[in-house]
Amino acid sequence: MCGIIGYVGKQEAMPILLEGLKRLEYRGYDSAGIAIINGEKIGLRRVAGKINSLEANLQKSPLEGRIGLGHTRWATHGEPSESNAHPHTDCKEEIIVVHNGIIENFAVLREELQMEGHTFRSETDTEVIPHLIEKYYEGNLEEAVRKTLQRIQGTYGLGIVCKHEPKKLIAARNGSPLVLGLGKEENFLASDIPAILKHTNEVSYLEDREIAILEAKKIQISNLEGKRIEREKKTITWNAEMAEKNGFAHFMLKEINEQPKAVTDTLRGRLDLDKAEAVLGGLNLTLPELLEIDRIIITACGTSWHAGMIGKYLLEEFVRIPVEVENAAEFRYRNAIFDRRSLVIVISQSGETADTLAAMKKVQAERVKVIAICNVVGSSIAREADGGIFTHAGPEIGVASTKAFTAQIAALFILTLYLGRIRKTISSMEARKMIEAMQDIPQKMEAILREDEWIKKCAEAYFRANNALYLGRGYNYPIALEGALKLKEISYVHAEGYPAAEMKHGPIALIDWNMPVVVIAPKDKTYDKILGNIEEVKARGGDILAVATQGDEEIKKLVNHVIYIPETEEYLTPFLTVVPLQLLAYYIAIRRNCNVDQPRNLAKSVTVE
Ligand code: M6R
Repeated sequence: MCGIIGYVGKQEAMPILLEGLKRLEYRGYDSAGIAIINGEKIGLRRVAGKINSLEANLQKSPLEGRIGLGHTRWATHGEPSESNAHPHTDCKEEIIVVHNGIIENFAVLREELQMEGHTFRSETDTEVIPHLIEKYYEGNLEEAVRKTLQRIQGTYGLGIVCKHEPKKLIAARNGSPLVLGLGKEENFLASDIPAILKHTNEVSYLEDREIAILEAKKIQISNLEGKRIEREKKTITWNAEMAEKNGFAHFMLKEINEQPKAVTDTLRGRLDLDKAEAVLGGLNLTLPELLEIDRIIITACGTSWHAGMIGKYLLEEFVRIPVEVENAAEFRYRNAIFDRRSLVIVISQSGETADTLAAMKKVQAERVKVIAICNVVGSSIAREADGGIFTHAGPEIGVASTKAFTAQIAALFILTLYLGRIRKTISSMEARKMIEAMQDIPQKMEAILREDEWIKKCAEAYFRANNALYLGRGYNYPIALEGALKLKEISYVHAEGYPAAEMKHGPIALIDWNMPVVVIAPKDKTYDKILGNIEEVKARGGDILAVATQGDEEIKKLVNHVIYIPETEEYLTPFLTVVPLQLLAYYIAIRRNCNVDQPRNLAKSVTVE
């Protein structure tokens, strides 16, 4: 999730690119850069930090020229720094590239190019692209770009300019969105509409495996094989704020809807069906170290802590190592027991949560290895952990964590598979079955998202309640906690999550018609037990909303409302059961007129104790 803007036309490019980048800052904000061609000269500025640092730099010495590219980065490879910021260039700084996406085979390409004498200046996957174009450039930029695209694997939204063809801006897309803005004697390129909406509302979308050549007075689109494509233009009716949220009313709703992509991106390149294994390059643990682990401790806060609980169920079931999950604020001050054979996993979306960071440092002080599951590359936790797995959920702006959570459980699934195969607790047949089931999850999430209207209606039935109970068992007990947390934090409704069977030990006293009970009841091995729990609530006049498996007619007769999820393996149900609960909390908060993206008293990143 980075932001790209490109301009070619009759105006000065710099203010247009800067303004566009500001509009794209929600897509990434750890470093930024601009390159502008002015005759024979290329002006290039890059800074670590937010767009206003870039703006301050450009105010001191502005760049002139009428064609250029800008980029705001959300790091995936290489820490946020000036040298890793885009645009990237070839050896002679004549070819300029901005990129959104992940080049999966960059390591092989980098080695090949280095052997041929190319000098790399960054740690990014992107930098192989300008060097490949340089390698293939024989006086025709378009041809060199086409040859380059044949060599790269992965996802890309690209903007490319070259000093030798200073009237041409090339765009290419595979998996990362790009929109072409159509102006009068000027044209625009952007990763998202808000960047260009001030200048034009006429756009065309570039599709996967397509290239566009933008000049001031024309745009030509073709596929990778060179076949010309006529693309209709569309008129955008949104205002800039709506466009930033991609038409969604809030970032939280947008991020809930981005979950199929966040999970797909986290899995990308990490599940090998043929070899029946998981691929994890960043753990930094040797084979003897991996085999020696006799205990796992997972520590985190809030939603990340709930993801850790699902990790415990996965790791204990499939890897057969004892796992403890502990709130980081407790763990850091407790005289906890761990030694060199323990593996500590910290989970954090932001990578800056003070308690999680402190828990990590405490363990490292005892020379015990820590791996981090983290969303923000370059964050304190990501930098200081001994190894880790990045979730590729993209920036999460809404205070209530949603897509980061499902990306975290995707990372825990990959880790489970990885350890299970190495330690031979998962057979190759079982691994294949697990991979196939996991790969179906994003489309099953899409199916739930299509039920949005029904979930909204359910919210309508419950938004007046001031309390709620969430019950789940097994893999869905943490989802009961997460569902309750979502409701509490954005709608200020008091909600508690319990293991369903615990209800009889106290919470059942709370049940009456005025206490909605959300029961997570997919068809799994405790299904009959949970039906028993439902009966207990019903007998006391409770109002029940169930999240159940598609086709379960029995449950429908027992409860007041049902939200169905597609069938999946028991250990994957959390990916699906959490989505309706996020939407339920969202719509209840809307009906209660709450500020969904910035709930009272909360901050996105809790950097103090
Ligand atoms: O950035 P982290 O994952 O470390 O943040 C942990 C919690 O602060 C966070 O999950 C918080 O609970 C969210 N507001 C939950 O939606």
